[in-house]
Amino acid sequence: MPLVSAKEILEKAKNEHYAVGAFNINNMEILQGIINACRKYSSPAIIGASEGAIRYAGFKYIVSMVKLAADESGLPIALHLDHGKNIDTIAQCIGGGFTSIMIDGSHLNFEENIKVTKQVVDLARPKGLSVEGELGRLSGIEDLVDVEERDATLTDPDSAVEFVERTGVDFLAVAIGTSHGAYKFKGDPKLDIKRLKEIKEKVNIPLVLHGASSVPEWVLKRATTYGAVLKGAKGVPEDAIKEAIDNGICKINIDTDLRLALLGAVREVLSENPEEFDPRKYLGAGRDAIEKVVSEKIALFGSAGKA
Ligand code: G3H
Ligand code: 13P
Ligand code: ZN
Repeated sequence: MPLVSAKEILEKAKNEHYAVGAFNINNMEILQGIINACRKYSSPAIIGASEGAIRYAGFKYIVSMVKLAADESGLPIALHLDHGKNIDTIAQCIGGGFTSIMIDGSHLNFEENIKVTKQVVDLARPKGLSVEGELGRLSGIEDLVDVEERDATLTDPDSAVEFVERTGVDFLAVAIGTSHGAYKFKGDPKLDIKRLKEIKEKVNIPLVLHGASSVPEWVLKRATTYGAVLKGAKGVPEDAIKEAIDNGICKINIDTDLRLALLGAVREVLSENPEEFDPRKYLGAGRDAIEKVVSEKIALFGSAGKA
């Protein structure tokens, strides 16, 4: 099946009240681990490639691999630029086989963010690609000292309405207390679900949660047992993810959990077998660990059987 746009995948998810994972890839094994899980559970997927991933793997490799994965699997798969900021890369993705673009203007002021986001919508829409915008800056709630700072950082519901109307984005990334990486909370994990509810009531497009990795116990334990130093690593609890889905989140971005799963598997194989040097042994174990993580996400997000 040819690649589809993320809009197509997410409109169905929104109507049927589930979420779809947007999984980041950097190489073939990561992609295969994701696709193996999607095949097993008949789930759609959004494959995210960051500008860094494109630099690492090469533009043509990313596009060719993901096209092949969609063709072979017969699943609805979108190839999405994650956190696009560079206009040349965005233009290359629009003309070069991606089916969805994120323009990340979250570091800009409101008017500038609207301006660049609208510019990307105008470039991408005529070619049939979907566009994600982001409003608000990702930050753990406990790092925001008072209500004023929280309001200035997290997504404001009324500004979200204006942002969506003026840019025409197909889906919107919101900041409600998650952050990227493995160290999301120092104290008790907390998301601003009240804010999310208000955004959902006012904005009628699929909403996106970045920084949504959960740092599962088994993944962390495997990696640290075999020497990884990840002191204080903490992710978004699975019940908070469920609550976010119940309140309008349809696209859930996961990278850290895949990285940690790959790391733990590679470390285990190499420590248990110090004489091993066949990459198929350690990367194969990494691929299997990614399949397991993605299978758990599919169950949590409710996307099984939705392909
Ligand atoms: O949110 C960012 C993703 O985890 C991608 O990270 O820019 O290091 O590839 P990256
Ligand atoms: P995590 O770091 O929580 O996996 O978030 C990934 C992400 O938001 C990619 O855009
Ligand atoms: Zn992100």
